[in-house]
Amino acid sequence: MRILSGVQSSGRLHIGNYYGAIRQFIQLQTEGEAFYFIANYHALTTVRDAKLAQELTREAAISYVALGLDPARAVLFRQSDVREVLELYWILGTLVPQANLERAHSYKDKIAKGISPDFGLFAYPVLMAADILLYSTDFVPVGKDQVQHIEFARDWAVKFNVTYVPGYDPADPDGKEKGHAPGILRLPAARVQESTAVVPGIDGQKMSKSYGNTIDIFGDEKELKKRFMSIKTDSTPVEAPKPTENAPLYDLLKVMLPESEFAQADATWRAGGKGYGDYKKLLLEAFHTTFGPARKRRAELLADPGELERILQDGARRAREAASPVMERVRRAVGLS
Ligand code: TYM
Repeated sequence: MRILSGVQSSGRLHIGNYYGAIRQFIQLQTEGEAFYFIANYHALTTVRDAKLAQELTREAAISYVALGLDPARAVLFRQSDVREVLELYWILGTLVPQANLERAHSYKDKIAKGISPDFGLFAYPVLMAADILLYSTDFVPVGKDQVQHIEFARDWAVKFNVTYVPGYDPADPDGKEKGHAPGILRLPAARVQESTAVVPGIDGQKMSKSYGNTIDIFGDEKELKKRFMSIKTDSTPVEAPKPTENAPLYDLLKVMLPESEFAQADATWRAGGKGYGDYKKLLLEAFHTTFGPARKRRAELLADPGELERILQDGARRAREAASPVMERVRRAVGLS
């Protein structure tokens, strides 16, 4: 089983990235062949400063390892270290219906937030599909906002196979029945952890770098405290039962507290008697219990840039090894070999 996913290096990692995706990355690295990368080509759609782009790429790699990704097991690499992905991006792009891209949620959201609608942003899902298909991925662990992109990747893989593989039957994509040929591009599926598929930000909208409502995993101590204290709440008095709807503080407690602790907090939340400030403190403690060790490890990794580069070079080599036979088959199929 091949597992692959990526995180854009367009800002610091936040707890939405962790609970929505990275926690699954870490769990899955023992269950199959895992490939995790830093989407630094995608990040160019928003980061337009070379120094910052490099720093954020490095920061993302360090964060993965600090959070528990084991580079001896999982392949950790920079997207830009395997240039074949751009070749596949173009080839796929020649088959992608423009109407698919026009209805991409993530594109529409970004435009609504004021990001300029340039070609890179529009074509973003095609590059993401190339990321997934180049490595013959079975499962892609992601948060809910990425599911549509993975469905596109699957549809376009089918379209490629139908167009270029004689004897391919979409009803038998692995060619298990007589007379059918297996596809060149393997069909991927999203893997979403329902309970944490959409982690709310401090204002109650989805936590997102572009909404400015994040809690950063490696944020500075003082700033973190401020963020926790500014989680949006209403004016329910201390002694009264608290509402569980439209309550980002409640949702975050559910995401971040271990189950038994959440059950206790849930009971008092519904009964009343504790103020929102108490719950915010509880949440901050849970944050430190979960991320304290990773924050320490990150500081150690920062002090050893040579080791990080060695890990990334090794990851790039292993990723290229996986990509090159797929790309060779694709080139032959379309007449570029
Ligand atoms: P990115 O960098 O925006 O987010 C990385 C991962 O974090 C998840 N996530 C969330 N999950 C739950 N609640 C939230 N509030 C939240 N915010 C972010 C995302 O769903 C994602 O899984 N396009 C991708 C990067 C990418 C990629 C790929 C992913 C490029 N190529 C190929 C998978 C496979 C992105 O921008 O993720």
